[in-house]
This record gives sequence, C-alpha cells and structure tokens, in this order.
Amino acid sequence: MGGSDSIFADDVELIKNAEVLEEDYTPETILCRDAALDDFTDVLKPIYKGRPPQNAFLYGDTGVGKTAATKHLRDKLVDDLETKNADLPADEQVTLNVIWINCENFTTGDHKTSSYQVAVGIVNRLRDKGNRITGTGYAPQDVYDIMYSELDDLDGTVLIVLDEVDKIGKDDTLLYELPRSRDMGYLETVRVGVIGISNDYTFRKNLSPKVKDSLCETEIKFPPYDAVELRQILQSRAELALYDDAYTDETIQLVSALAYQEASGSARRAIRLLRGSAEIAEGEGVEQIAETHVRQADKKIEYGNIVESIADQDDEKLYILKALAHLDLVDKTPARTRTIHRAYSRVVRAYNEDSGSEPLTQRGMFNHLSKLVMFGFVHTIDRNKGAGGGQWNEHEFSDDVDPAKVKEAYDERGLDWKRIKTRGVDK
Ligand SMILES: Nc1ncnc2c1ncn2[C@@H]1O[C@H](COP(=O)(O)OP(=O)(O)OP(=O)(O)O)[C@@H](O)[C@H]1O
Ligand SMILES: [Mg+2]
Repeated sequence: MGGSDSIFADDVELIKNAEVLEEDYTPETILCRDAALDDFTDVLKPIYKGRPPQNAFLYGDTGVGKTAATKHLRDKLVDDLETKNADLPADEQVTLNVIWINCENFTTGDHKTSSYQVAVGIVNRLRDKGNRITGTGYAPQDVYDIMYSELDDLDGTVLIVLDEVDKIGKDDTLLYELPRSRDMGYLETVRVGVIGISNDYTFRKNLSPKVKDSLCETEIKFPPYDAVELRQILQSRAELALYDDAYTDETIQLVSALAYQEASGSARRAIRLLRGSAEIAEGEGVEQIAETHVRQADKKIEYGNIVESIADQDDEKLYILKALAHLDLVDKTPARTRTIHRAYSRVVRAYNEDSGSEPLTQRGMFNHLSKLVMFGFVHTIDRNKGAGGGQWNEHEFSDDVDPAKVKEAYDERGLDWKRIKTRGVDK
C-alpha cells in the first residue's frame, strides 16, 4: 500500500502486479480457445517430430488472442523440444529457430511496409549489429538472395511468424516465396514454415491464389469472444493483477459486457478497461472499483481510440479535418463544400510551404470528404430549398469528433498545429 509523501504515490493501491495487464504479457493459459489451439497444435506437430514444417494462416478480429495463442504455443514448442533433445544423441536432435516479425514495425517514414522491407527485417534479425543492411539501396532480388543465404546458414527448421502480415500490402511476393523456398531451390539446408497472422478480412480475401495455396495451407479462425468468455478471461487476469478486495464479480461482469458491446468481443479492450478502472479508483483513493470508475475509464478509452483513428488517416483527410476544426472553432459549421475547400486550401499551403504541393480541386477534396463521412468522422446535412431553391450539402463534425481530438491526432502524428486564417479570423 501507498503511504509515501511523493506526488507520484497514491494512498491506496489496487493493482498488485501491473505487468499482467501490459499489452505484451503472455498468459500462462489461453482460455476459451480449445478448437483453435487444437488445430494450431496439429500444424506445429511435424516440427516437434523433426518432419517438414507446415504453414498456416491465422485470422480473426482484433484482440481475440491470435498473437497470445501463437506466443504461447511457440514457447511450449521450444520448451518441449528442449526436453526432448536432452534425451537424444546430437545427430537426432531437432533444431528449431523461430523468427518473429511484427510487420507493423516496418513502416519507416515514406517507406510503407512491403515484402522487401520484411525481407530486410529477416536478414537483420539474423545478422549482428555491425552487419545489418539498410531498408533501401538494394535491388529486391539481391535482398531476397541475401535473406536466403542467411536462412540457409541456420540448421534444422526455421519457423517464421509474420504477425500483422496484412501490413505487407499489395506485393505479397514474400508470402508466396517463403513457404516454397525449398521447392524452388533457394534453400538447401533448412526447412521453412511460415505462420501468417492477420485481422484484416479484405487482405485475406485478396491474397493471390498462389499465396492462398501455400501460406494458407491451413487456415485457423479466431472468432470473437462472447460476454461469458470475456468474463472468464478477465476473471483469471484480475486474480493475478489485482488485490482481492479491489474488484467484485459485478466489476468483471460490467467490464466484460462493455468490451463485448463496444469492441465486438475484444479481450484486449476488456483488459485495458479493467486496468483503466483500477487506475481511476486508485487516483480517487478508493479501495474497490465502482461502476463510475469503469464508466469513466470506458469514456477515456473511446476518446483515445478516436484520436488514434484520426491520426491513422492520410494527409489529405487530416488537412480536411483541420479545416473543419478551424471552421468549427469560429462557428462556421455546418459548412458548404466550397467553404471547406477554401479553408482546406489554406491548410495545405501552410503545411507544404517547402514542398510546394498544391491543394486538390474541390472535386478531388470532396472524394476524401466523402470517405470521412463514410468513416463516421463527418456528418452531412442535406439542404433542400424546394422547387427552384437549390439543393446543397453542408458538413460538420460527427458527435464523436471535435477540434481538440483533431489537434491531439496532429500531436500524435508529430505535426505542428499551425495557425490558419479562416476568413480574417485568426484561430
Ligand atoms: N484466450 C485468452 N486467454 C487469456 N488471455 C487472452 C486470450 N485471448 C486474448 N487474451 C489477451 O487479450 C489481449 C489481446 O490478445 P492478442 O494480442 O492475442 O489479440 P490479437 O488477436 O493478436 O489482436 P490483433 O489482431 O489486434 O493483433 C492480450 O493481452 C492477450 O493476452
Ligand atoms: Mg496480434
């Protein structure tokens, strides 16, 4: 418990083990996933037996345990092989190398993640610091050649896990090549198995037939959790993370219900919400999480999620949102498209003084604006003045968005919040 004079201390503490609530914590047991774990175990069995590895594609919505289950089985496989090898003569031992790549981490500046970047990532994972290659400056075929020669320097089986593999984008060369690398004669010593993981349904649908054939040899579906399953997962996490008196059954029930309703069965959301609720209760010096703490934490998460999804938009859409923010601040919304276009053009010029890139035409901007409407950031009002009175649209932020959130999204993207003139009014 607290008791310290420091401003960083709270008088009461509800969290006994914060690590357990961290994003990268791998739970000891994966609950409510028996079917997926069985299928997945079957995919990995050949590795344990020293036979050629298989490939698999794991898919399902965000927060449903794909990464957690994979880490869990990876650890188990490595442990069990160690035990097995201990009893075997050296020449019968099974060597396994696991290369874990989160494809999301290969977006650097203007370079979007691609097969090429991930191949560079694999090379660098296998080389020591002094010998790493850069993400530019090699012909693609050279990078693949280097990758194969690094892989072939290993022994036994190489299991390559490509988490968030959808970030690889349209060019799926690597996904096609890796699973067949041995058949194609690129590798002689090692055998490669590939596990692809994705929460993007479109990506899976659009994979080229050759990739579907090889990588998706086995597909393992992770359905969303229902409220009962979320409760079970959360209960076991709470027991490890919180003091007994810090929560009740009702706490767990409410948190699970909210995560179920608002985040379509995401265990990640449930765990985040539990942690947020505990922190708010601690901040208030209360020893048990109450409903109001859960509600407050939920609001805070929703807010953060909207800021994050604004920050994920491309530049043109961010410019439009900033234009709308300025119009909103001077009470000029709902605004007609041409008004928004004027403000948007000022924004574009302010942010592109150096590059000199020009704003899109009103029609070009309108396409992006329509997407923002479709995504639910912007709301359109149909003005119809009857016969002869004309018809036009006006736009304003939806209930979820306000100027402060747009500004925070700019912060998150590392963009200054520049002053823009809105018809003589400086805001
Ligand atoms: N069955 C489970 N048992 C225990 N904990 C779980 C289970 N499923 C998910 N979790 C926990 O929920 C959180 C989210 O799970 P995970 O990261 O595996 O989701 P994911 O399916 O990989 O999502 P994304 O597609 O966003 O990467 C993690 O903290 C994980 O430990
Ligand atoms: Mg994941």
